[in-house]
Amino acid sequence: MDIILLLLIAYLLGSLPSALWVGKLFYKTDIRQHGSGNMGATNTFRVLGKKAGITVTIVDILKGTAAVLIASLPYFSDSSIHPLVVGVVAVIGHMFPVFASFKGGKAVATSGGVLLGYSWPIFVLVILTFLIALKITKMVSLTSMIVAVLGVIYGIIYYFITGDIYLGLVIFLMGAFIFYRHRANIARIKAGTEPKVKWL
Ligand code: G3P
Repeated sequence: MDIILLLLIAYLLGSLPSALWVGKLFYKTDIRQHGSGNMGATNTFRVLGKKAGITVTIVDILKGTAAVLIASLPYFSDSSIHPLVVGVVAVIGHMFPVFASFKGGKAVATSGGVLLGYSWPIFVLVILTFLIALKITKMVSLTSMIVAVLGVIYGIIYYFITGDIYLGLVIFLMGAFIFYRHRANIARIKAGTEPKVKWL
């Protein structure tokens, strides 16, 4: 029962469509009708500007973090489910949100939040990698996929240092989600039509 409750909480948390709600509430704009149409932080920056973009980035990260932290609470300590699995369920909620017709974001920020909830040094490493890759590529989509690949390497190093294999496995899974959700971006990158960030 506890496990079902935990997974339900994680899914509902992940399902919170922050980009959609921030756009509708404060800008009278349906983010799905503009830019890439994606309900994520990047498209929010693109369409609604920095303030909204930062808000959505933080909320989407915290959805993953909260799921992992809730799973680590003493109340759920008897449940045999690993906190990272609960985090992955939040990422699934973010991609397929019950509050937005199951059409959500591309898993990037919420996956980052899962890392923050489980191992902040890995999160910091991933953020630094993201900023460096973004500076070079100027494309958030390509950057996200580069980080997804390098993240697996970080997960392997983490395993050799701590003996904990779960983080690497979950980074691999979240990386697979990220690649799957970026299919349209991959096509645009190949065609040379993927938009670049202007403020770098
Ligand atoms: O986080 C999603 C990002 O990698 C790509 O977003 O709107 O450019 O498809 P977008």
